[in-house]
This record gives sequence, C-alpha cells and structure tokens, in this order.
Amino acid sequence: MFETINEVAAFLRSKGITSPDTGIVLGTGLGKLVNEIEIEVSLDYADIPNFPVSTVESHHGKLIYGNLLGHKVLAMQGRFHIYEGYSLQQVTLPIRVMKVLGVKWLLLSNAAGAINKTYGKGDLMLLDDHINLLPANPLTGKNIDELGPRFPDMSCPYSPVLNNLMTNSAHDLNITLHHGVYAVVAGPNLEARAEYRYLGMIGADVVGMSTVPEVIIANHMGLPCAAVSVITDLCDPDNLVPARLEDILETAAKAEVQLIRLFKNVIQNL
Ligand code: HPA
Repeated sequence: MFETINEVAAFLRSKGITSPDTGIVLGTGLGKLVNEIEIEVSLDYADIPNFPVSTVESHHGKLIYGNLLGHKVLAMQGRFHIYEGYSLQQVTLPIRVMKVLGVKWLLLSNAAGAINKTYGKGDLMLLDDHINLLPANPLTGKNIDELGPRFPDMSCPYSPVLNNLMTNSAHDLNITLHHGVYAVVAGPNLEARAEYRYLGMIGADVVGMSTVPEVIIANHMGLPCAAVSVITDLCDPDNLVPARLEDILETAAKAEVQLIRLFKNVIQNL
C-alpha cells in the first residue's frame, strides 16, 4: 500500500504537482470552487495510475492543482465513496498521497441531511465531531508505520486552529455556520424514518456518506483538517418527504456560493 501511495505521488510530481500546501475535497454538487483556482495541472482520475475512478455522475472526477489566494492547492473535484464498491483504503488513497506530496492543511466538504431540526436546507455546518457507522475502517490491515501510529488518537479529529478560522471567517462574511456532529453511513440508500430517529438519539446533527474515512486517515498522519456539510435535505422522521437527488443537487448548488466564500476566506487566512 505504501508503495502504491508513493508511486501515485511520484506520478503526480512528474506531472508538475510539486508543492501543494492545502488539500481540498469537494463533495456532491460542490465542485465549483475549482473555478477560482489558477489552474496549473488538471488530471482526470482515470488518467492517474492506481487511482480509483469516481462513478457518481454528480462528481466530476478531477484532480486540480494551482494557485488560490497565495496558496498552492490540490483539489479533488469529486471523491470516492464506499457505496461505489471501493474499499476504504481506495477511498482514502488520495488523502495519503496529498500528505506525501507535502499538504499541510486539509479542507473537506460534503452534502448531508439534517437530523437537527433547527437546521434549514442550504445551511452550512462545521463538523465538531463525528460518529463512524461504516461497516469498515480505512486503517484496517497492516499499519503503515511511515505514515502514522497503529492506534491513532481521535479525541479531537477536527483541527481547533482550522475550526477557529472557519468560525471567524463565517462571522466576518455574515454566513450562518452551525457546529455539530456528522454521522456517516454506507449508503447508497437514504435512511428510513426509524434510522433518522436513531441517529438523532445517538447525537448526530447531520448524516452523510463520506468524509469520516478521509478524516480518520488525516488524523492518522497528523494532517490537520476541517470539514463543512451543506444541508441538502431535512430528515425529520415525523414529516419525511421522499428525497430526490435532483433536489439535493439543486440545494447544494445554491449553498455552494456561501461554501466557496467561506473556504476562500479561510484559505486566505491560513
Ligand atoms: N442521508 C445520508 N446521506 C445524505 C443525506 C441523507 O439524508 N443527504 C445527503 N447525503
């Protein structure tokens, strides 16, 4: 595995991705931040040896490297999910590659359903913590000692420095930013009403199908990260309406404007 990671890193270096300092993962319907990047290198996932290929239509499947507000960013326009049939080692490979390439900060975004009834569609939530309900773990198997410890600590998965920056930026930009707990499920089906009720009881504010494996891997490697959910649907078990992907994408597209403002401001202040 470590060999594969180094091979991918070497390939990307050979393509000119030499010194990224900030990694960005853009989730469902949230890829437009790349339009703000002065692009130096753009690669389809399909053209990167050993990279999984994104199979979700709403994810573009591109790795983009360039300048953004004085930073060298490496952005994933679209990510990988366990529901696509990938192992969590495959899902998180790009994050490990980012670290090997020198990334110092990782910002992630995702689309999520709101369990917390005070949240509205299109709101943003900063992840303070998470609950991993996936049937697997990206660190299963022989530990890669070169990258991190066998039993990584998870007492503070989200960087207080980055979360402070997020909070201050949201305040300065007049963007409402909830703070809460993200529960991850495998998907691809959305949840039944009893499951939403259960998620509320165990302390989740939102639910989604990504991000946590990447955050576990970032923590394993000591890579500070922060993540923001865009609320795309309301998961009130007593008033549940069928979720439609078109609605989810439409809401994500509307909220994306605020997410881009927030991420740009944070990057500027890094
Ligand atoms: N459940 C799980 N994942 C999601 C949801 C949801 O309601 N909305 C967006 N991603």
